[in-house]
Amino acid sequence: MSAQALQSPAVELSQADFERVRSMIHRHAGIALNPSKRTMVYSRLSRRLRVLGKADFAGYLDELERSGSDQPEWQEFVNALTTNLTSFFREAHHFPVLTQHLRQRAAMAPLNIWCCAASTGEEPYTLAMTARDAFEGRSAPAVSILATDIDTAVLERARQGVYPIDAVAKLDAGLLRRHFLRGSGGSAGLVRVRPELVSMISFRQLNLLESRWPMDTRFDAIFCRNVMIYFDKPTQTRVLQRLARHLKPDGLLFAGHSENFTHARDLFELQGKTVYRLARSAA
Ligand SMILES: C[S@@+](CC[C@H](N)C(=O)[O-])C[C@H]1O[C@@H](n2cnc3c(N)ncnc32)[C@H](O)[C@@H]1O
Repeated sequence: MSAQALQSPAVELSQADFERVRSMIHRHAGIALNPSKRTMVYSRLSRRLRVLGKADFAGYLDELERSGSDQPEWQEFVNALTTNLTSFFREAHHFPVLTQHLRQRAAMAPLNIWCCAASTGEEPYTLAMTARDAFEGRSAPAVSILATDIDTAVLERARQGVYPIDAVAKLDAGLLRRHFLRGSGGSAGLVRVRPELVSMISFRQLNLLESRWPMDTRFDAIFCRNVMIYFDKPTQTRVLQRLARHLKPDGLLFAGHSENFTHARDLFELQGKTVYRLARSAA
């Protein structure tokens, strides 16, 4: 057999296939993929085709559409198309606000925080560090964090709580000492978040578009950052209506730096920079 025959033939992503991918991921996950993302979609999904030994996108998409969205390949399709960029203490101005908020509510413990696009875990662990540090030297109220994301692969990494040392390079030395363990031997170059932080967090898969969210908790704070940017306005409004029902009357909603919810003024009022509270009519 020649070397040529061992290579799989190059698969092509036609414009029609790309439009189909855009429509499928929009329907399933609310993600409005930009028309400029054809190369990204090609590179992410052609890997799936290689793993499955499929020869073309149309066949792959046909099969996906025929199978119910509860079939495992749908999860792989979604995992391949999400963008998971995140970091510890991203948008740092939010954490002093959270510290203050938790301190004011200490008497109402247990306190509950929801991080609804948790990605690889840097955000929920940042919330856990902030909550522990908020009560340093005082009797700390119980704080529980629910960390969800649609993408099961990132959640698996989040659960492990292990990161390359570069991911914490910009963190202050005291914070590093308090909250991380440095790897040695085979784990050199890695850090692990301390078990006290891990035990504050429950990781669960949750698609914000799902018709039923499986929790009836009302949260003291919701972090919904840098996920709404992937949704169109009608989808954002639907998700915001549901978030409003899961926030306590005096709870806070934290949004990403380029997200603004002024189109949902009946639901949320701006309280500070990208921090919202329930509008009077929604409380
Ligand atoms: C850019 S990351 C933001 C991570 C983190 N919140 C932050 O601000 O650093 C966006 C995350 O939203 C998740 N996501 C996208 N669509 C979603 C949906 N429909 N439901 C839940 N999570 C979703 C992605 O899997 C990804 O991990």
